[in-house]
Amino acid sequence: MLTLAKFYCATIAVFSLSVLVYDQVTLATITLPLRTKKAMVVSAHPLASEAGISMLRKGGNAVDAAVATAFAISVVEPFAAGIGGGGFLLMRSEKTGEIKALDFRERAPLKATRNMYLDTQGKVRPNASTNGYLAVATPGVVAGLYEVHRRYGKLSWQEVVKPAITLAKDGFILSHEVSWRSVQSYANRKQAVLDNPVAKEIFTQNGEFYQPGDQLIQRDLADSLKRIAKNPQSFYTGSIAQTIASDMEKNGGLITLADLKAYKPIWRNPLCGNFREAKICSMPPPSSGGVHLLQILNIIGDTDFKSLGWHHPDALHLIAEAMKIAYADRSQYIGDSDFVEVPVQQLISPAYAKKRRQEINMEVAKPSSEIKPVDKETLNQLTKLSPNSPRFTSFITNGESLRTRLLNHLSVTKYLTQHESSETSHLTVVDEQRNAVSLTFSINLGFGSGVIIPKTGILLNNHMDDFTSAPGMADSYGVIGNDINAITPRKTPRSSMTPTIITENGRLRMAVGTPGGTAIITQIVQIVLNVLEYKMDIGAAISAPRIHHRWLPDELRVESWGFDAPTLQELRRRGHNIKETTPWGDANAIVVTEDGSLEGAADPRGEGSPRGF
Ligand code: DON
Repeated sequence: MLTLAKFYCATIAVFSLSVLVYDQVTLATITLPLRTKKAMVVSAHPLASEAGISMLRKGGNAVDAAVATAFAISVVEPFAAGIGGGGFLLMRSEKTGEIKALDFRERAPLKATRNMYLDTQGKVRPNASTNGYLAVATPGVVAGLYEVHRRYGKLSWQEVVKPAITLAKDGFILSHEVSWRSVQSYANRKQAVLDNPVAKEIFTQNGEFYQPGDQLIQRDLADSLKRIAKNPQSFYTGSIAQTIASDMEKNGGLITLADLKAYKPIWRNPLCGNFREAKICSMPPPSSGGVHLLQILNIIGDTDFKSLGWHHPDALHLIAEAMKIAYADRSQYIGDSDFVEVPVQQLISPAYAKKRRQEINMEVAKPSSEIKPVDKETLNQLTKLSPNSPRFTSFITNGESLRTRLLNHLSVTKYLTQHESSETSHLTVVDEQRNAVSLTFSINLGFGSGVIIPKTGILLNNHMDDFTSAPGMADSYGVIGNDINAITPRKTPRSSMTPTIITENGRLRMAVGTPGGTAIITQIVQIVLNVLEYKMDIGAAISAPRIHHRWLPDELRVESWGFDAPTLQELRRRGHNIKETTPWGDANAIVVTEDGSLEGAADPRGEGSPRGF
């Protein structure tokens, strides 16, 4: 239910924008990291960071804070992520040094079939995998959060769900600072919301989306959260499960009580590799994140970017060429490894990276049409090689101030007015003992499938769309989808989510993640380079302008605000098809500095902020 509580926000918003447009100091403040001694939470929304830090203040640990933050995000960023979706987390225990990965992503319903989105001519039915009941995969967030909390949380389960219940019951103001993401998301996904009467009632007033200054109260969601606080199984076998299953049946959805009952989060071994002095660990399949993060960093290898200077065309060229190779391989080889064979170790092996590095011409960008996924024979040869990766040692610093460069580059007006949507939500927590959690979760596109099950307030995902809808057929880029990511009952769709934890000399160095669809992986590559290679503080590392290439289409996306003309000219000269666009992503991260304190930042492209003490 939406209650109008129009404050003075419109005036304030106009005033604040004009301040931001002219005041670069304000921008510098946005990008400055928060520094604290003890503990920190960074998420995509200040109220969610608040929920997390309140757990740490009560003596909870990183897991308690992460779970409370994730539940709170489900309430304050319902269009991006929530208990109707799925996700992945990495956690590191300071005591044991062990890093664990939990997969609580959605699974295909038992009744799902390989060609369920095709018409009788074998063509993909428009919107069938994105809007409405058929687009929904079995959600995993409640089971995942409960699993990690059950094993590692310190506070009670009721305690960590409580802040979210309060936010849903009492509502929160969509203040001018935290409204544009939801407004933009709605603009992109209006039809899916309007098609569902419950979603329409909750998120609109007679079809008009809520405005800055409105208050969002979600009574049904508060009620569901209360039930979950009492018994998390209510989502999978209890009253919530029954409501979901019966509404699915009424509306042609596939999820049944059997699907919900069968849902299990899966502990997986994180994928780790070495880069410079650091050990980088991230998510294994069914996410493609870890594989391609490591693959791209391996291809960059010991190339000395630092002495070239930040964003030198040689560096940008090599990163872009490595991205193309990784995304070519991704199209062919990544799926749910519980159902298909994924050559993970071969793809992340330094021997393979070396081979691919030799194919890169530093003067000429290779057209994507000439870059192919690795062939089976090469993969077989790689299988016979030792999986041990060498340590890269090149490490040069020159003290360049990125912030100065950033401020010189930044066109604040563009920056504030041309955001790209970044649904999905990431959160990062480090506690006093230096335990860390890096968690990314999502309902996929903005407002997911648009389906809210009546009387639950739970907005359901459209993650069925992350499967290959038409295996064997060309998609809109001319890429032949293959079976590796085809729909199969209980299978998990391929993801790009890349929650990452980095250690150096056995000590926690950084935890990081971001939304952004296929551009998640390439953002993490660049943030990692900014911190480890260019020695930026985390505020600068996250704010720095980004590039993205995903092989097909053959275009190198660059954030239009952040690249000077000579750099772009040089990249064009080498053959890159440059596409200047609005910013993307909404990363956040925490690093441990040399003196052992914490430094955290949320992406100024988004609305999040760090909280700590
Ligand atoms: O799992 C994935 O990779 C995507 N479904 C995440 C979606 C996302 O980040 C949306 N952002 N624009």
